[in-house]
Amino acid sequence: MVDPDPSEDMLAGLEEFLEAELRPYRTELPVYKRLPGKGISRVDILSQIRTMARREEPKWKDGFVSGAVYNGDSSHIGFLNEVYGLNSQLNPLHPDIWPSAIKYDAEVVAMTASLFGGGEGGLASVAGTISSGGTESIFLAMRAYRDWARSEKGIAEPQIVAPRSAHAAFLKAAQILDIEFVEVGLAPDFRVDPSALAAAVTDRTAVIVGSAPSFPHGLIDPIDELSQIAVDRGVGLHVDCCLGGFVVPFARRLGADVPPFDFTLPGVTSISADTHKFGYAAKGTSVILYRNRNLRRYQMFTTADWMGGLYYSPTIAGSRPGALSAEAWAAMLSFGEEGYMQATKAILGAGQVIKDGISSIESLRVLGNPLWVVAFTSDELDIYAVSDRMTARGWSLNGLQDPAAVHICVTLRHTQPGVAERFLADLEASVAEVRSSPGSVGVMTPIYGLAGNVATRGEVAEILFRYADVQFKV
Ligand SMILES: Cc1ncc(COP(=O)(O)O)c(C=O)c1O
Repeated sequence: MVDPDPSEDMLAGLEEFLEAELRPYRTELPVYKRLPGKGISRVDILSQIRTMARREEPKWKDGFVSGAVYNGDSSHIGFLNEVYGLNSQLNPLHPDIWPSAIKYDAEVVAMTASLFGGGEGGLASVAGTISSGGTESIFLAMRAYRDWARSEKGIAEPQIVAPRSAHAAFLKAAQILDIEFVEVGLAPDFRVDPSALAAAVTDRTAVIVGSAPSFPHGLIDPIDELSQIAVDRGVGLHVDCCLGGFVVPFARRLGADVPPFDFTLPGVTSISADTHKFGYAAKGTSVILYRNRNLRRYQMFTTADWMGGLYYSPTIAGSRPGALSAEAWAAMLSFGEEGYMQATKAILGAGQVIKDGISSIESLRVLGNPLWVVAFTSDELDIYAVSDRMTARGWSLNGLQDPAAVHICVTLRHTQPGVAERFLADLEASVAEVRSSPGSVGVMTPIYGLAGNVATRGEVAEILFRYADVQFKV
């Protein structure tokens, strides 16, 4: 008898999980596999959308989710929706029709630059653009460095040198742009080891990378030391502030232990900061900043001989949703420095409660010394089993690997009264359950187990491909 393929079992488990999530949408709502012959009434369409939104809202609204929804306040969302409604036709590709779209983009970039030592009162040369999110900001910056290195340094095959903790977006950019990605290990405190990074820099290195903070462990790399390496070796330094862009500058002003991370360091040549995370804008915007306009030029696409006319575009997309720029602009004006300071204070407060609470749960250990993205593991228990039990209690946390760990990214949702305490009580109960009966209760524990083994990692990649197919099945 042939043993069943374990990856088949896991795929079936994942499929079942997704099916269960989708079941109400497939049974209680119509499923469309082709265009309806005759248009459906707006009332009916809105009712279907409301049904889905109402089902999904409590989970993120009540603070059961790590990251994902960073503000979530009803009146703030209503305000942003109003801004969208007024601007839904805006396309910055047509500045003659919508000069306002250009104003929104330019002012969002300028206001963001001013948080990072650029613009008014800072380094006047700092220049940037808006993009659709963190991944695109990183992609565009990596494209700029690739072409800068080719054009100005004669490097035919440039490299990115980045910490193991850098976001997957860097790997994605390297893969799509055909740039070599050189990975550098972390120091025991889970921040990049600067001497290992310096040793990895070669004559082909275009850019080195640091995070402020990193996605997995929420830790700020020693950017000042990376800056020195960048200056000494004549390479670019991209600081990924996608997650922390609208927290870290304010945390620093509040006196938190935040080392320098911005353009005030001479080696920092670009920074990405996501307005659609802690900038509290709607999903779909981020800002990419460069130390000077020369570097920004390498991000731009221009053509002077296209039959369709003269064409210039700063981002991957051609036509862009100017309404999202308007929302980012509106969110930033509405919060102002004071609003972001207050939000940051509340988030750091909840982060501290959660960090201290996790540290006091027997068998759990926090990785490094984070501010508000708290990663934790266990030396005795299977941390994924703990996470699966949190999932069973309604939580949505992020699984991490190497080492096996889980994180919670604290947002304004977790600053609501009682949420941090509920998280800690549920975590303590989950740990107790795993201690008394260590078996898995969910789908993720065995899959992470498989991914943790080099020999079976390929199988997990295959499971992910097949999972993607399942997602697009109607
Ligand atoms: C540090 C960091 N960089 C980049 C990204 C990618 O951002 P996005 O998901 O908006 O593309 C994230 C997302 O969480 C992040 O935490």
